Amino acid sequence: MKNIAIFASGTGSNARKMIEYFANHPQIRVSLVVSNKATAPVLAMAADHGIPTLVLSRTRFYETEELLTDLAGIDLIVLAGFLWLVPPYLVAAFPQRIVNIHPALLPKYGGKGMYGAHVHTAVHAAGEKESGITIHFVDTAYDEGQIIFQARCVLTPEDDPAAIARKVLALEHAHFAPVIAQLLTNN
Ligand code: GAR
Repeated sequence: MKNIAIFASGTGSNARKMIEYFANHPQIRVSLVVSNKATAPVLAMAADHGIPTLVLSRTRFYETEELLTDLAGIDLIVLAGFLWLVPPYLVAAFPQRIVNIHPALLPKYGGKGMYGAHVHTAVHAAGEKESGITIHFVDTAYDEGQIIFQARCVLTPEDDPAAIARKVLALEHAHFAPVIAQLLTNN
């Protein structure tokens, strides 16, 4: 059995999709959900599914390496809307074993401050004719690790940032879990 830890900061719709996708999987399970926000809806949702959860403080994450103990037995860390930069000790402990999803076609619209609605507002302001998703390995810089998978959607001039967000989120929900499954079953 391969074990996934999902890290999420917010709503957790991608985390929910992933938990549902792997619920009855013979080889892969979501065995931990970590959030930096005690009130994040993702934690209650995970608990409803019987998945252990962990609330991470900034001090514990950045000033200790205690998290490594909590992650014993984890094969892959999946960042699903997790907004804190991953510290070097964690990248070193999980080489090519931390994956992030970004709501745009990297290398465009990535980097610090480029998350969630900020991304879609920037894509809209630039008059882009397409956007999409990028699933990539995580290194110590925001949004710069090796790209694993991208999917695209066409944008029309009528698409406002909210419409772009809906199109991109639909791609995330369709592709994230299957890409993770493929990654884990090929390794
Ligand atoms: C997702 O769209 C994800 O791509 C984005 O946050 C959203 C989380 O939604 N991540 C980033 O912007 C990272 N830079 P969710 O909480 O509903 O899964």
